[in-house]
Amino acid sequence: MIVARGVTELKEILKEWRRRGDSIAFVPTMGNLHDGHLRLVEVGRAQANRVVVSIFVNPTQFCEGEDFDVYPRTPEQDLEKLRSAKADLAFLPATEAIYPHGRDGMSFVEVPGLSEQLCGRFRPGHFRGVATIVCKLFHLVQPDIALFGEKDYQQLTVIRKMVTDLDFPVRIEGVPTVREANGLAMSSRNAYLSPAEKDRAAMIYHTLLRAVAAIQDGERDYPALEERAREELQTVGFGVDYVSIRRQQDLAPPSATDRELVILAAARLGGTRLIDNIPFLVANEAL
Ligand code: PAF
Repeated sequence: MIVARGVTELKEILKEWRRRGDSIAFVPTMGNLHDGHLRLVEVGRAQANRVVVSIFVNPTQFCEGEDFDVYPRTPEQDLEKLRSAKADLAFLPATEAIYPHGRDGMSFVEVPGLSEQLCGRFRPGHFRGVATIVCKLFHLVQPDIALFGEKDYQQLTVIRKMVTDLDFPVRIEGVPTVREANGLAMSSRNAYLSPAEKDRAAMIYHTLLRAVAAIQDGERDYPALEERAREELQTVGFGVDYVSIRRQQDLAPPSATDRELVILAAARLGGTRLIDNIPFLVANEAL
């Protein structure tokens, strides 16, 4: 596996691969890699000749007072995992390589509407930072396919919209969430949780599962289901930002006939903010 830290080096390697006719799959990450990321590499390997993984903790997607400074940075372990997963290239740029002219007054990519709801309400500017860094990385890597975890469902939806609206020549593939044995969605931020908190954090998934089961049993009062799930989580000690049932495609509130839905939640346990979701198809007989 090649490790590139500079943009020129990255571009030279990619140019040579493209000259040979290789297709390129791209997995953008912020490092502290876990099995969810490695699954993205695996799916990428099955679909392209080369897999490029970036590791960059992007400052522009962290809001004031968030965990940018303490975000877990584990580059040596990450590189070991990527070697074992048979990635072809790891790109670990310094902040100056990505934002060489600083960040004051720079251009940003906005995906309005989608970016301000759900997590966007609690993390203003977050999706603007995500869309901007993903746009920049797409320009640097020029992948044929890019892989993102469904765990960050809103992020995936924002990126799909950006790619469609701005005609990026890349196929976006969402990969189902990888979970711990207790159901907790894998996330780099789980590193902040104690073993006891990890057990409790899995309750988010089980609460969402119960709401989905109620829908499949014929319940249709989505606001009431959201409220019930919120109360369940609050009772066991979470600070709940939201529980929301939306349409998969555009995260709009569903009508009674929409079948491709996703239930999403964001909740805080101690100082750690966790997100999870379950995409599901409303069973026909339940409509
Ligand atoms: O999901 C992440 O790790 C980040 O938001 C991403 C897509 C790598 C952009 O920094």
